[in-house]
Amino acid sequence: MVLIKRFILFTISVSLCVSAENNGTFPKDFLFGAASSSYQVEGAWNEDGKGENIWDRMTHAHPESIMNRDNGDVACDSYHKYKEDVSIAADLGLKHYRFSISWTRILPSGYDNYVNQKGILYYQNLIEEILKHKMIPVATIYHWDLPQSLQDIGGWTNPLLVNHFVNYARIVIKNFKNVGYWITINEPKQVCVRGYGAGDFAPGIKGSGIANYLCAYLIAKCHAATYHMYKDEFPHYKAKMSITLDGEWSEPASNKKKDVEAAERRNQFEFGLYANPILNGDWPEVVIDRIAERSALENYSESRLPIFTREEIDYINGTFDFLGFNTYWTLLVANAKEASIKSSSYKNDVRAVITKDPKWKLGSNGNTIVPWGVRKMLQWIQKTYNNPDIFITECGVSDDGTSLDDDDRISFYTDYLDAILDAMYIDGMRIFGFTAWSLMDNFEWTGGYSYHFGLYHVNFSDPQRTRTPKKSTIFFRKLAKTHRIPQV
Ligand code: BGC
Repeated sequence: MVLIKRFILFTISVSLCVSAENNGTFPKDFLFGAASSSYQVEGAWNEDGKGENIWDRMTHAHPESIMNRDNGDVACDSYHKYKEDVSIAADLGLKHYRFSISWTRILPSGYDNYVNQKGILYYQNLIEEILKHKMIPVATIYHWDLPQSLQDIGGWTNPLLVNHFVNYARIVIKNFKNVGYWITINEPKQVCVRGYGAGDFAPGIKGSGIANYLCAYLIAKCHAATYHMYKDEFPHYKAKMSITLDGEWSEPASNKKKDVEAAERRNQFEFGLYANPILNGDWPEVVIDRIAERSALENYSESRLPIFTREEIDYINGTFDFLGFNTYWTLLVANAKEASIKSSSYKNDVRAVITKDPKWKLGSNGNTIVPWGVRKMLQWIQKTYNNPDIFITECGVSDDGTSLDDDDRISFYTDYLDAILDAMYIDGMRIFGFTAWSLMDNFEWTGGYSYHFGLYHVNFSDPQRTRTPKKSTIFFRKLAKTHRIPQV
């Protein structure tokens, strides 16, 4: 199927003189890698001086909020097994390994008055190990594990967090000189909408319609302040820096004007809210207008969306060297009736009915598998943000983990990578890397250990947390070696 499609696309592109190169091959310098994040894999939650973070707190104080009452206390035990992790990544022939830094391992109290040298040493060793295996270290400064101490004073709703974040970022940048790419913050939408809106993610604040916007506002400022600090204070460093945003494509449920508008509105709320301040300047217009309109209906004297000053707009705009992009799934979106004005919420602001086409396949966590959705999302990014350089920093699918023969994962990657090649060669997008989520099965937030995204299986009932290659490792090894989508 993929081969037939490729032939057709090849013929079309030749006849249109777009590009004759879409023969299923990624460029020689294209980066294939795999990702993980600190809370999801490290374990050692209170070892060697590490302080408590919001996921430690939530999983301990509210175990009922996580499937099977799982937690990340031990996780994949990567704090002790990092050498093995790096070597299994290298064994796939990958060019990069993406990991994140645990804020409270470096600054146990959250503040910069005491730096935990054991934490610094852990990441220095990890980075050295990655370099030793001839891979590029891609480091995320913040992948959701905020110090609990900083949450106690408001977390991502306290404007002072920006300063504390920059102080933390300065320490890690200074100490980890050999990082190849910096990601300031992973997926602000999940941090804000789930952590401070719906409240199902740590820190569990149910502040939909108010707190999630304050969070988005502070994250934009925080990312920009970190980027400026980096460029001003470390001008001799070569590593590029950006933020990683997750894009789930909103496909109009019909051709009706209202549904098409609703899908565009949802894309702007779900992606544009975080991307626009950085890539274009200011919030997207439709988001500003819609929240102002709804706030007025609800009788607020001002919009629930914090408004950027002209100075802030200019300070945040352009703070990226590329765009980090995580991609998983697609939804159908139709227009919704105006909700009752008695309640304020993000959902009422977006005003959309969301469904899944029953014909679409699903991952075990309910994510839809829609390769063309990724291409449409990429095309939308290209058009909306003037074709930025893109690093795909996560993409993957979950299964129930019952078999090492993960053929569904192989077809997922085959089809998604094919859609990405189309975006590159037919649409002319500048995508320079692709990162599998994830290197190994790990703690999947509220899903605990029930969703398995890994290229390697991890046995969580074995104290050794043994890693075993799945069939998809064969696929990935061939992909990384040949730069072609393998037929496994
Ligand atoms: C997150 C990962 C997560 C993955 C799969 C992404 O949104 O960055 O931390 O595990 O999705 O659920």
